[in-house]
Amino acid sequence: MARWDATAATQRVLERCTILGALSETPDNLTRTFLSLPMHDVQSLLLEWMREAGLTAHLDAVGNVRGRLEGLRSSTLIVGSHVDTVPDAGKFDGILGVLLGIEIARVASKMEVYHSLEVIAFSEEEGVRFGFPFIGSSAVCGSFDPAWLTRTDAGGITLEESLRNFGLNPLEIPNAKLDLDALLGYFEIHIEQGPILEHLDSPLGVVTGLVGQSRLTLEFGGLAAHAGTTPMNLRRDALTGACEFVLEVEKLARATDGLTATVGRLETLSGAGNVIPGAVRLSLDVRHASDVVRLLSTNKLLELARQLAELRGLRCGITQNLEQSAVPCDPALTSRLVGAVLHGGLSVQRLTSGAGHDAMIFAPHCPVSMLFVRSPGGVSHNPLEAVFESDVEDALEVGCTFVLDVLGDHSA
Ligand code: HGY
Ligand code: MN
Ligand code: MN
Repeated sequence: MARWDATAATQRVLERCTILGALSETPDNLTRTFLSLPMHDVQSLLLEWMREAGLTAHLDAVGNVRGRLEGLRSSTLIVGSHVDTVPDAGKFDGILGVLLGIEIARVASKMEVYHSLEVIAFSEEEGVRFGFPFIGSSAVCGSFDPAWLTRTDAGGITLEESLRNFGLNPLEIPNAKLDLDALLGYFEIHIEQGPILEHLDSPLGVVTGLVGQSRLTLEFGGLAAHAGTTPMNLRRDALTGACEFVLEVEKLARATDGLTATVGRLETLSGAGNVIPGAVRLSLDVRHASDVVRLLSTNKLLELARQLAELRGLRCGITQNLEQSAVPCDPALTSRLVGAVLHGGLSVQRLTSGAGHDAMIFAPHCPVSMLFVRSPGGVSHNPLEAVFESDVEDALEVGCTFVLDVLGDHSA
């Protein structure tokens, strides 16, 4: 007797990605940041879908949606991913892993499992609204820093106010923490978001580790002045200084093997066509599999920023938003995942994740493993983000085999 109808489950997952993909804070594209209004509908649907799949579901104090299946023992495998998005996003980044987790839990709920399972939809992973990521998984792992409550978004709303405005109680955040001693492991299925699996013509990839990342904000300060009356040699133009820096970022990254360095946002803080920009704020995202290379490169770029600011008579302010070390996936848990891929009759492709994931927050507390799904076109953080239905079904089958294997392991 077939364990389940994986094809029907896959179609349900893809239909639900489309339903959730329409829940956006912007009319013309998918943008859904931490505790934005559409998150109410996302949470209601996920609570309903988790309960319908046989889970006991609740919302925690930072807006994570959590569905639990009690096993004979309280030791717990977490299967999760995030439900927030970047601006103008695709509809699979994060969401796909949550919905696959619910389908896997549906199968597990029909049998007696030895260990417990918790499916978690993290409320914030991208770091868009407050400038730093992983708020949801940090609360679950007990690493939520109360100082974050005073951080403000672009509209000056503090994180604490955003929680209260959403109907959540910041005082309850400590209750969102899992019993870390009962943590058996963490598993996340996610789209690859890059071109490797497509290049290898492989539907799935086993993640061996995740690169480290540094995220910073730089501000160049010059002197706003009249565009028509100020000679070129007397200007302190913050924007041309910032642009010189952006090209230096690209130059260093191109010259350093395995390094990515990106300026994703650049804004002139007051701006008009006839005003020389007096202040510019930009983001800097630096990543590498080696923490030493990443930190050396970041420091080199910051020194470059200070030097060019001095030459141009600009001020240069630097704020560190994230310092995340590279994380290896757990070898033992990952070899179980490899077994599940082979059991599915698929070839095993191993790769490093250039993207950050909530697995990084769990890694200090328990073994983590990740399964990637091919990204056709290698595109993500873009509405062109896509998946092949057959790849999603493969991920569902492999994920189910892996999770049931872990949940039934009496030796763990
Ligand atoms: O930016 C990242 O690494 C991920 O998409 N949050
Ligand atoms: Mn993302
Ligand atoms: Mn993601």
